[in-house]
Amino acid sequence: MLVLGIETSCDETGVALYDNEQGLLGDALYSQVKMHAEYGGVVPELASRDHVRKLVPLIREVCNQAGKTLSDVEAIAYTAGPGLIGALMVGASTGRALALALNIPAVGVHHMEGHLLAPMLEENPPSFPFVALLVSGGHTQLVRVDGIGEYQLLGESLDDAAGEAFDKAAKMMGLDYPGGPLIAKLAEKGYSSAYTFPRPMTDRPGLDFSFSGLKTFTLNTVEAARKANNGELAEQDAANIAAAFEDAVVETLAIKCRRALQHTGMKHLVIAGGVSANKKLRIRLDEIAKKERSTLFYARPAFCTDNGAMIAYAGCQRLMAGERASLTITAQPRWPMEQLNALGEKS
Ligand code: KG4
Ligand code: ZN
Repeated sequence: MLVLGIETSCDETGVALYDNEQGLLGDALYSQVKMHAEYGGVVPELASRDHVRKLVPLIREVCNQAGKTLSDVEAIAYTAGPGLIGALMVGASTGRALALALNIPAVGVHHMEGHLLAPMLEENPPSFPFVALLVSGGHTQLVRVDGIGEYQLLGESLDDAAGEAFDKAAKMMGLDYPGGPLIAKLAEKGYSSAYTFPRPMTDRPGLDFSFSGLKTFTLNTVEAARKANNGELAEQDAANIAAAFEDAVVETLAIKCRRALQHTGMKHLVIAGGVSANKKLRIRLDEIAKKERSTLFYARPAFCTDNGAMIAYAGCQRLMAGERASLTITAQPRWPMEQLNALGEKS
């Protein structure tokens, strides 16, 4: 089944063609990052308008890349939530209308299920059951995954998501949005031992996270460093703070992942979402997994952040199990992943 995947939940327009037998045939992404940069974060109305501008040209580009035409497409998968409602509606209405015009089925995909299944697009995919750490700009969750749609939430952030913490810390240091990759780059020149950052909630039992205290600690550290240097944040201080902050987030996530592996007895650990592109996190979790005689899985960096391929893949699995979106075009800005049906199960 050749599936066209459409992702428009936030500030990236992603399109891909995935075939269950031939694999990924084409994939393209347009990032709105530059447009939102001057506002220091995503402006929802601008995001929706830009998806409208970019989506159809991207669909054409991906078809050309794959040597296919729209008449070859057998089904359409679009992100139906969670995300920005206006942005989601662009993908949902384009996807649904296209499916209607081509007389083919469509399905609405859960964005985080897309992230969760992205490592399945790699050469050595994980097998069920596994523990997954979902770390994106809006989510930080530990989930037990027994199959597609069989999700049990083990723990989550009580306040900011890990990606959000990276973005906010970056802003405090005068870096652009999204801050995650910029903090990681700056941290390469820094010494994390220059500061002692807290590892929030790791001394308590359980698998929940909290990053708001770390955010305040970072703000205080940045301000103190500025004050000590005539109001300017020195380059080396910024690099040291970035390194100490990154270490604190990585270590906090690693402690909880280790605990989740121990509690569930699972031998596969999957990390997904934008923050899973972080090199230090991958290295640290690989060490943890080995200590627990487990294996770590993740997607290539381009498929950790938002993309169309993960939506085409997840949609293809659900379409092949017989799932169909109704003709009503809907999107859900809030949509807990545990509400999803197991594959093939009627709602
Ligand atoms: O999954 P994603 O592309 O979008 C959401 O669904 O939110 O995740 C974006 C988040 C941003 O907060 C960004 O700063 C973070 O992922 N991120 C990173 C890295 N690359 C992206 N955080 C840390 N290190 C990175 N290398
Ligand atoms: Zn995402």
